[in-house]
Amino acid sequence: MTDDYQISGEYLHLLSEPAWQALGTPVAEALRGASGAATLLDVGAGTGLGTEVLAGAVPDGDVVAVEPSPVLRAVLLSRIAARPDLRQRVTVLAGDALGVDLPDRLGAVLAMNMIGHLSPEGRRLFLRRVAERLVPGAPLVLNLQPPAEPTSVPFEVFAAVPVGRHTYEGGGSAEPSGPDSVTWRMRYRVLDADGTTVREDHAAYHWHVTASEVLLAELAEAGLVGEVGPLDVVRAVRRP
Ligand SMILES: C[S@@+](CC[C@H](N)C(=O)[O-])C[C@H]1O[C@@H](n2cnc3c(N)ncnc32)[C@H](O)[C@@H]1O
Repeated sequence: MTDDYQISGEYLHLLSEPAWQALGTPVAEALRGASGAATLLDVGAGTGLGTEVLAGAVPDGDVVAVEPSPVLRAVLLSRIAARPDLRQRVTVLAGDALGVDLPDRLGAVLAMNMIGHLSPEGRRLFLRRVAERLVPGAPLVLNLQPPAEPTSVPFEVFAAVPVGRHTYEGGGSAEPSGPDSVTWRMRYRVLDADGTTVREDHAAYHWHVTASEVLLAELAEAGLVGEVGPLDVVRAVRRP
């Protein structure tokens, strides 16, 4: 099995922290209605930045974090293990959104920064899988990421984070690669204190774009009512 995050896995946690400083509050807010009486699920948990928000939103619930990438799972597991409160109640599963066995009842589902990894058919199947398991009032929380259409995105540095005398920098650009997808080309650099490049890595990944009205229609098809909130965080609950 190949690991899409084999190269970027080293950088992802560090470079996602600034984005999660902004996402934490809107995601916690969107998780209102989550129920600790059923399983709290984080799909494509990555290094666990969202898992922590989910666990914090429902302090007594059992959390399942699903992560297909072995590199990211190693970071996730070590971060969970280092937190005595989380290590009691977060179970890490090696699996993906469509193949993982799901519990019958879900008290909330988080799927942040991952929906573009699923094809349109996969996305609809995923929405159905979780919709039929969410207990009444429990939210599915995910987000939309630009571009909404298959268009070019010029190169931009997303984040630069210092650790020791190095600064870790991540950036990328995107090009259309199909009727509903782009290919992101990422560049990661480790810079020394004087700005010279110590190391440079590149990674590319396929990303399915989704316009908000398309996603809202697919949520409705799955029996959910969705709304788009701050920072394009989408909250959906089962239609009463
Ligand atoms: C950009 S990362 C986001 C990680 C984390 N949710 C966050 O927001 O920090 C995308 C995540 O989706 C995961 N992923 C990729 N394909 C997936 C699939 N088919 N099912 C579930 N997760 C998947 C990746 O391994 C990665 O952890």
